[in-house]
Amino acid sequence: MTKKVTVSDFIEKKQDNEKLTVLTAYDYSTAKLFDSAGIDAMLIGDSLGMVMLGYDNTLQVSVDDIIHHTKAVSRGASRSLVIADMPFLSYHISVEETIRNAGRMIQEGSAEAVKLEGGQEIIDKVEAIIKAQIPVVGHLGLTPQSVNVAGGFKVQGKSKEEAKKLLKDARLLEKAGVFAIVLECVPYPLAKLVSEKINVPTIGIGAGNACDGQVLVYQDMLGMYSDMVPKFVKKYADLGTQIQDAVKGYIEEVKQGEFPAKEHCFSMDESILEDIE
Ligand code: KIV
Repeated sequence: MTKKVTVSDFIEKKQDNEKLTVLTAYDYSTAKLFDSAGIDAMLIGDSLGMVMLGYDNTLQVSVDDIIHHTKAVSRGASRSLVIADMPFLSYHISVEETIRNAGRMIQEGSAEAVKLEGGQEIIDKVEAIIKAQIPVVGHLGLTPQSVNVAGGFKVQGKSKEEAKKLLKDARLLEKAGVFAIVLECVPYPLAKLVSEKINVPTIGIGAGNACDGQVLVYQDMLGMYSDMVPKFVKKYADLGTQIQDAVKGYIEEVKQGEFPAKEHCFSMDESILEDIE
């Protein structure tokens, strides 16, 4: 049986200076591909609101949405760690509701960990989830659920005050017991400093290569989503164009009667058809 990546592996990889690899995933067949390619963890991010459901931001994503997609990803993950994102308002109302929602990700979605956006202001919720024996990933820097307060998707931590708060939040999250922290859209020098100052791995997205690992939204890195392409994205494939070309080929062949060909058809004893009318 394949050995599952665990939360302890995350900490060990940081100690061994081995980079961690994370991608988002939202469905079974994609999860199977990423899992067999050897990705360490798959995140069912609330980014699914944008790349899967077509919303302008992540705020409309519900706990049920995340659970629905987490179930599918979990079925396709025999090796990778499965991390479910806690969506907007699922951990803001009360500690009790937070534990219930995090618990649903584990019990119903078969996730192995959850991720929450924020630092000091949500530290009581992070502590409570960890006390309930659910591993937690923190998320600092650009936190897309705060898009309306931040006034857009912007780089965070450029001023002294912001940088100081980010480092303080990272330390608080580490003390609370998170096993990794996502740093999103954080300038390289600050991400490097935070990565050096804490013992839990940092997973960067738009935060440079000094982080202990990297995460990307898979539609971005495979060239499948063009509504918004952040500067930090590297396209490892242009599947969008490949998919469009394939679909155009299908349309053309169907119109021309070239598909399906003989090899795609089932045969039978045609004498059976005699007199059936
Ligand atoms: O929702 C998401 O996909 C995320 C990653 C971008 C880190 O939070």
